Amino acid sequence: MELLVKILVALLILFVIKVSLIILFFYSEIRAAQKRDPAAKNFFEVLFLYPGLHALIYYRVAHLLHKIGMTFSARFISQLARFFTGIEIHPGAQIGKNFFIDHGMGVVIGETTIIGDNVLLYQGVTLGGTGLQQGKRHPTLGNSVVIGTGAKVLGNILIGDNSYVGANAVVIKDVPPNSTVVGVPGRITKQEGKKIDVSLDHIHVLDPIMQSVEELEKRLEELEKRK
Ligand SMILES: CC(C)(COP(=O)(O)OP(=O)(O)OC[C@H]1O[C@@H](n2cnc3c(N)ncnc32)[C@H](O)[C@@H]1OP(=O)(O)O)[C@@H](O)C(=O)NCCC(=O)NCCS
Repeated sequence: MELLVKILVALLILFVIKVSLIILFFYSEIRAAQKRDPAAKNFFEVLFLYPGLHALIYYRVAHLLHKIGMTFSARFISQLARFFTGIEIHPGAQIGKNFFIDHGMGVVIGETTIIGDNVLLYQGVTLGGTGLQQGKRHPTLGNSVVIGTGAKVLGNILIGDNSYVGANAVVIKDVPPNSTVVGVPGRITKQEGKKIDVSLDHIHVLDPIMQSVEELEKRLEELEKRK
């Protein structure tokens, strides 16, 4: 009985140390999650129940191991994180401050991805490569980028600071800063706070079928107005 009490006390002490260390090293990430998720009721809810935070904690440890050449252990930790959180972050990825993954399930972040500060990803986002080439083959996200649920950002492309990628978009080309991209393939609908007339924006339009449909819609509207 006495031994059991000792074991329980030791486990409790270990738990308190672990939680204190997490608070110490991840305080700003927990605050960032609280700010960005209206459903987060308090600090401890984020600390104990948010898979996005847990995946980030695993990632920081795995990244450290990856940097000192312990690649197998690093991958092992990232696979453990995937098992517990549904989020797969390659230990080689580079992630800035205040990163937050909301909900998280199904997120995949590739090996050569670079993520700036204050970036927000929703569930089902893929930051992936497009082929079997070596070297930098995953995206670079600037600061304060938001990637909507289910979006795929593919290849060695740059998503500029403060840009939004809409839910379920597939982005395969660079996106300038302060832009909003939606659709498949992704097209810019807003830049520097101004709406872009997609039918006139031949540089950013990637989908000729979509463009024809939009031109037809415009002509139909004009004809209806003439009636
Ligand atoms: C793209 C997004 C950021 C909105 O940006 P916005 O600048 O406010 O854009 P608007 O709502 O003014 O829409 C602009 C145009 O894009 C369209 N649009 C918006 N989101 C879209 C999307 N995900 N896919 C396709 N089209 C979209 C709108 O219908 C609108 O089209 P219109 O100009 O022909 O009417 C937002 O719609 C989005 O997808 N956010 C992701 C949120 C998310 O993932 N939440 C998960 C919570 S669990």
